[in-house]
Amino acid sequence: MTAERTVAGFRCAVCAATVDIASLAPWQCPNRTAADPYHVLHLLPGGDHPVAVDDPNPFVRYGPRLAWWAFARARGMSHDDCVALTREVAAGFLTTPFGRSPELSDEVGTSVWVKDETGQVAGSQKGRHLMSILLHLRAAEELGLLTERPPLAIASCGNAAMAAATLAHRNGWPIDVYVPTWMDPAFGRLLDEFGARTHPCERRDDDPPGDPAMLRFREAVAGGAIPFSVQGPENALCLDGGRTLGWELGDQAAAAGVELDRLFVQVGGGAFAASVGAGVGAEVRLDTVQAEGCAPLAAAWARAGEMDEPASRWHDVMQPWPDPHSAADGILDDETYDWIADMHAMRASGGRPVVATETEIVQAHELATAAGYRVSATGSAGLAGLLHVSDEIAPGDDVAVILSGLARG
Ligand SMILES: Cc1ncc(COP(=O)(O)O)c(C=O)c1O
Ligand SMILES: [Zn+2]
Repeated sequence: MTAERTVAGFRCAVCAATVDIASLAPWQCPNRTAADPYHVLHLLPGGDHPVAVDDPNPFVRYGPRLAWWAFARARGMSHDDCVALTREVAAGFLTTPFGRSPELSDEVGTSVWVKDETGQVAGSQKGRHLMSILLHLRAAEELGLLTERPPLAIASCGNAAMAAATLAHRNGWPIDVYVPTWMDPAFGRLLDEFGARTHPCERRDDDPPGDPAMLRFREAVAGGAIPFSVQGPENALCLDGGRTLGWELGDQAAAAGVELDRLFVQVGGGAFAASVGAGVGAEVRLDTVQAEGCAPLAAAWARAGEMDEPASRWHDVMQPWPDPHSAADGILDDETYDWIADMHAMRASGGRPVVATETEIVQAHELATAAGYRVSATGSAGLAGLLHVSDEIAPGDDVAVILSGLARG
């Protein structure tokens, strides 16, 4: 059966190792080790994208374009069973609103289009990344390839943890969430309500450098847990479902009769910008946005510009940002894990990294809130990037931002 294989498999962007689409649990490059974690599988395109199905659920609408779907079909699952499984597992996912914001357009002096992802399952785009992992797992169960449920594992204390706990709860799958000791206890109680097992991670005397929550997460994965991660190097399938947001944005813009010129996307670990860029396509210029208090992608971009093959020199290119800080506290990842895909999407579309000042981060949050969006400072950081370069926006340009991350409290 070759129908509906729009993803042919995976290839490591670093060492070129390939993984077949029919593989169970194709999370990580086979050559990745604890000593050499600098590998990341990227999707290899297969056949043409089928036309979107007219359905409000993006996982139904774009289902046949996804890697988990190609896996299930390659293993013999029927199209109708894929649809039925999606309706069950991804119930509740929405086509989120898209429209021109008169307030933000006045402020910037050109048409600003907003994709409002704050009403998505768990309040952000993170569930889209995780859903393609969960669908792969549930398909493997249906196909008899997975007969028990190893725990899901994630290291996060933000939107990703909330989305992971929500999806695990809905599907009755056990989950361990590795969190820093400074996590807000109110957030911990929310995770408890979803039945997540939360593990505050203190630094141990014999720990190597790095985030202790990440170290414990990786230990759990080495012990058999499933990396339910929104970072491409930890789980390549997160880069799959995130594309639904880009496809949706493109289709909504077309339906509104607008040709988007530019898109500004806030970057933490980088999976979001990578997948949206892949989904929306190179015709829309993608500028990634970080805060001045944490801008490892911009620094890496400058280093990579002087190298022939930056992907083969990960360690030289992507270096941890010392002392990350910003009001946009959800994008303080000290490394942009998905930098290779981010750079690819920017290069292909003529974009570049933008570093917003802290004043712009705060101003963007105030403007977005005043314009009626219940968004966090993290989720409006793309708008801060737009403010930063507003002088270079041509009047008449149609620019888009994605507001995501519901303001809590
Ligand atoms: C609302 C929001 N926007 C953007 C991001 C950045 O996404 P990524 O880490 O995939 O770059 C995050 C990540 O935490 C987020 O919560
Ligand atoms: Zn590799």
